Amino acid sequence: NPHKLQMEAKTVLERSNCRAKGGSPGFNVAILGASGGIGQPLSMLMKMNPLVSVLHLYDVANTPGVTSDISHMDTGAVVRGFLGPQQLENALTGMDLVIMPAGVPRKPGMTRDDLFNINAGIVKTLCEGIAKCCPKAIVNIISNPVNSTVPIAAEVFKKAGTYDPKRLLGVTMLDVVRANTFVAEVLGLDPREVDVPVVGGHAGVTILPLLSQIKPPCSFTSEEAAYLTSRIQNGGTEVVEAKAGAGSATLSMAYAAVKFADACLRGLRGDADVIKCAFVPSVVTELPFFASKVRLGRNGIEEVYTLGPMNEFERAGLEMAKKELAGSIEKGVSFASK
Ligand code: NAD
Ligand code: LMR
Repeated sequence: NPHKLQMEAKTVLERSNCRAKGGSPGFNVAILGASGGIGQPLSMLMKMNPLVSVLHLYDVANTPGVTSDISHMDTGAVVRGFLGPQQLENALTGMDLVIMPAGVPRKPGMTRDDLFNINAGIVKTLCEGIAKCCPKAIVNIISNPVNSTVPIAAEVFKKAGTYDPKRLLGVTMLDVVRANTFVAEVLGLDPREVDVPVVGGHAGVTILPLLSQIKPPCSFTSEEAAYLTSRIQNGGTEVVEAKAGAGSATLSMAYAAVKFADACLRGLRGDADVIKCAFVPSVVTELPFFASKVRLGRNGIEEVYTLGPMNEFERAGLEMAKKELAGSIEKGVSFASK
């Protein structure tokens, strides 16, 4: 009896809405671009996160299937799917955290900046939705080129009168994840015990690992430092070439995105000493955006840390990073202020 089935589906929906509203102490999280290479594993991992009570999956394609699939996982978060621009507002209303991996990835031979023409418009439209429907949400931007898409987001929020620099973060966590892995490999350590700060931005020479500030303290020969810096800066390209046209990093990125989103949620919950690297509005250098360590708290970014002591190799890297970043930031700002 199809009518009976429909009634049951309605009851199920009412019950899950009721559960989402009730006792659960978690947060409301939306993923924009949830059906993509990053979006799918990211959605799965966020469904497993005990700090999430409601998970909204939005994309312009395939969300009904991804949502149905993920909703069968017996974890706490209530999952809802949203398809296409006419459902964007419902996807965003009431969200505490919005994670954005929407947009096209690189193919071999492309730079991240080659994605600008397509992804800039996607990020702009999605940020207009955020400004309208959840202006107080923490926003994690993954869409490339991050060095330009974060400035675009800031301009959109400024135009809408909702800009809060404490709530806008470009996700550079994958650079830290790679740095920890590659350094651990060279030194024969467990990657879980290594923490390398990576500052600057998220493309080529703007990715600046500060190996001199590694925890636990370790020393490197100049050959080791040069090899590691280059491998960390080219980690994305290494994956793009290995995938040979099938896209860029998705699984390690989903892992890194969840590590970062979880830190944002722990900050919102009020945990002390939640510190991660991210590309954020900044006064640490003369540039308006820069990646460095930030402390996350109830309001988003509670503190942006200065870069700390650097060796000569890192200081030279910083000058190169700033030069390229200045252009990428300006490109984003001028696109969004048109
Ligand atoms: P993908 O093509 O597999 O997935 C992208 C998804 O975005 C698709 O499902 C697509 O339908 C969706 N999408 C397109 N336009 C949209 C819109 N207007 N609204 C909502 N969704 C939309 O790509 P991917 O491999 O998941 O990568 C996504 C983005 O993340 C790329 O720009 C990539 O360069 C970037 N990326 C960033 C990092 C980082 O460290 N920040 C790491 C890896 C990838
Ligand atoms: C990465 O670092 O893996 C991403 O930015 C994707 C890319 O294009 O390299």
